[in-house]
Amino acid sequence: MLGVYPGSFDPFTLGHKDIVERAAKFCDKLFIAVSENINKKHLFTLDERVEMIREVFSGNSNIVVESFSGLLVDYMQSRNAQYIIRGLRAVSDFEYEFQMAFANRNINNSVETIFMVPGSQYLFLSSTIVRDIAYNKGDVSNLVPEPVYKKLMEKYNIK
Ligand code: PNS
Repeated sequence: MLGVYPGSFDPFTLGHKDIVERAAKFCDKLFIAVSENINKKHLFTLDERVEMIREVFSGNSNIVVESFSGLLVDYMQSRNAQYIIRGLRAVSDFEYEFQMAFANRNINNSVETIFMVPGSQYLFLSSTIVRDIAYNKGDVSNLVPEPVYKKLMEKYNIK
């Protein structure tokens, strides 16, 4: 089974990592597919985001990190993958996630979206929260993987 975990990951959090680790258990190969979200203004460039996530999973041969542009379903076709993995935290995620799942199915009927729930300690966690805390010089070391933490500190010039 080939899974694709798409997102903007700006930045990648421990909640994202938790989902990847759960999905990698049942996927033969899991593609972490990093993209621009046209509705968001990004803090890190696409290349920076890919590089940080690659560092997090450098020892895992069944996890591939790459960027894509254009439609997610087209990227999936190019990788011969059928399953989209998305994390769900709260009821507030549902509407957006349902819209995306139906939009993707509408464009390509052979893709299936699998929703996964992270560990309960990550239910409140989002990239937006991490950016906000880091921007205001708060401690995010327990919210993001080490390579992301370092880059965030650099970005906000925090010693
Ligand atoms: O982490 P995000 O920002 O919620 O991820 C959204 C993302 C990047 C997965 C979504 O915007 C996406 O799939 N973009 C690619 C364009 C596309 O396929 N759009 C149609 C489905 S909404």
